[in-house]
Amino acid sequence: MPTRGSETPRSDPAAPDSQIWEAVDRYFVDLLALTDPALDETLRSMEAAGLPAIQVSALQGRLLYLLAQMQGAHRILEIGTLGGYSSIWLARALPLGGRLITLELEPRHAEVARANLERAHLSDRVEVRVGRAVDSLAQLHAEGSRPFDLVFIDADKESYPEYLTWALRLSRPGTVIVADNVIRNGTIVDAHHPDPRVQGIRRFFTLLAAEPRLVTAPVQMVGTKGYDGWAIVRVVVGADARGEPRERRDPPNRAVT
Ligand SMILES: C[S@@+](CC[C@H](N)C(=O)[O-])C[C@H]1O[C@@H](n2cnc3c(N)ncnc32)[C@H](O)[C@@H]1O
Repeated sequence: MPTRGSETPRSDPAAPDSQIWEAVDRYFVDLLALTDPALDETLRSMEAAGLPAIQVSALQGRLLYLLAQMQGAHRILEIGTLGGYSSIWLARALPLGGRLITLELEPRHAEVARANLERAHLSDRVEVRVGRAVDSLAQLHAEGSRPFDLVFIDADKESYPEYLTWALRLSRPGTVIVADNVIRNGTIVDAHHPDPRVQGIRRFFTLLAAEPRLVTAPVQMVGTKGYDGWAIVRVVVGADARGEPRERRDPPNRAVT
């Protein structure tokens, strides 16, 4: 019978796993100061406006921030803005002159996000585009958008396969693509699951597996958002899907397709 140490809480029938996951999230939010007035006010404004609380967690926000910085991202594309919580984390990672374009279907969500980005002093580097993401992505492509360094996919799960296709068109070798909510309590292993979101994610992974230009690391996560996870993907033209280098064919600043 496992005993509960003072420093290492363990899962037991009386303390469901989710309580421990949340406690660990809270511990790191406090220890690493993963919140501040702009982020707090963003969450408050979303609640006041009746937006769903489906934003990334603070720990995931920090991970997005770190990935964007490690990537040296100047241009970031986000699909699914909501109230701008993850947009703030991503935009804060941008260097001077960097740009985040974030796509949102609901005008009300976009309005709340713009106010939050303004309050966080990030409006100068963030553009919120309203409409169906597939249309906004096609528009970006038609505009001859320069490739993005990082793409964060976090909108309707049924459309993840299409978002991946567009993300690739708007990428360059070396672009990192991150997709949220791809584990879904483990339901993605069920080929016959009736939820179209699960089927959308399964098609997304099938595409990833078949695409030699992409190297994928699925990451299972637990925390305040329950049991879910990300796919972290890198565009590697000139390498095969196992990450073994072949040859460098593309200069780093050209779009892939
Ligand atoms: C999970 S939330 C995004 C959360 C946000 N990334 C964050 O972590 O703060 C998903 C958002 O995608 C938007 N959305 C859903 N379907 C969409 C579509 N077809 N095109 C663009 N946005 C869409 C929803 O309105 C919602 O605001």
